Amino acid sequence: MPLRVFVAGATGVVGRTLLPRLRERGHHVTALVRQDGRLEGGDLVDAVAVADIMDPRKLRQVVQDATPDVVVGQVTAFRHPDLDVALHRTSRLRETGTKNLVNAAVSAGAGRIITQSAATAYSPSGHDVLDEDAPLWTDAPGRWGEAVRAVAAMEEAVLTCPRIDGVALRYGALYGPRTWYAPGGVIHERVRGSALPLVGEGVGLTSFTHTEDAASAVIEVLTGGDPGAYNVVDNEPAESTEWLPAYARIVGGPTPVSLTLEQAKAQLDWLTVHQLTEQRGATNFRLRETLGWRPTWPSWREGFATLCGLWPG
Ligand SMILES: NC(=O)c1ccc[n+]([C@@H]2O[C@H](COP(=O)([O-])OP(=O)(O)OC[C@H]3O[C@@H](n4cnc5c(N)ncnc54)[C@H](OP(=O)(O)O)[C@@H]3O)[C@@H](O)[C@H]2O)c1
Repeated sequence: MPLRVFVAGATGVVGRTLLPRLRERGHHVTALVRQDGRLEGGDLVDAVAVADIMDPRKLRQVVQDATPDVVVGQVTAFRHPDLDVALHRTSRLRETGTKNLVNAAVSAGAGRIITQSAATAYSPSGHDVLDEDAPLWTDAPGRWGEAVRAVAAMEEAVLTCPRIDGVALRYGALYGPRTWYAPGGVIHERVRGSALPLVGEGVGLTSFTHTEDAASAVIEVLTGGDPGAYNVVDNEPAESTEWLPAYARIVGGPTPVSLTLEQAKAQLDWLTVHQLTEQRGATNFRLRETLGWRPTWPSWREGFATLCGLWPG
């Protein structure tokens, strides 16, 4: 049945992938932008709403005008080049902006809200590959602790509101066109410039998510699935010793150098060391089992190679 869908974050890497998929299925799409004209020629939508998610009054008005059945939030500030600033702004958007979006969705009579969340926020303890019941690392140090607490607050706002069904899609490391892993992106350039080393044993696990799979999961939960949190990741969580040298080969970069943990702590930011040495992977079992969702890109190996033109599709 065609739905009226309101998409916040419509100009982002997931939003842009999502818009045509919604339209293909006959849904009526309203795209939220901060400035008129931000959508590109190919971003076909039925209506454009202009508001900042941090402005609750204006947001409420445009969501009410759109009369959506489903509200989708894909809002972050990860485009900012300074990681500390990006994390801090994203935390505010997740915590305050998402509360604003929930309130606006409820006031507009929407039946469901779907928000982007993070499968990278789990506490690095217990099993290597974690499901949705694993605790979030809310007492992590520094900026990361702030970021994870914002993820927890965002999920609480979405999942515990009694007047709307809430779904949190926990993405892994996002890759695809225009992301950090695409040609010209932050990670791509770091690896080509030999600025992303292997650290210690390199046993930190990363679960990756292609932006097409992030979007296909939104389609899947538009009406399906119980409210709750779902990991949206590929089938192959990988240690940094595995994915980093493979990615370096794919992008035509040098073999990553190896640092000891002590050297890495002195040379790299805390979050990168965490990711490379102790981060846990995530399993997509819940989404597969309950909704039959399958990633289009089950392995980052093929996804990276195609993204970087090594194996043209
Ligand atoms: N999402 C993650 O968890 C994550 C984590 C680490 C790295 N990354 C990397 O970050 C890059 C960006 O991916 P992304 O999907 O996170 O971000 P994105 O592609 O920049 O999308 C963010 C969306 O949020 C919107 N937005 C930001 N602030 C807003 C506000 N105050 N009110 C309304 N809308 C607002 C943006 O709109 P405007 O067009 O107005 O800016 C944009 O549509 C990717 O390269 C990815 O590799 C993402």
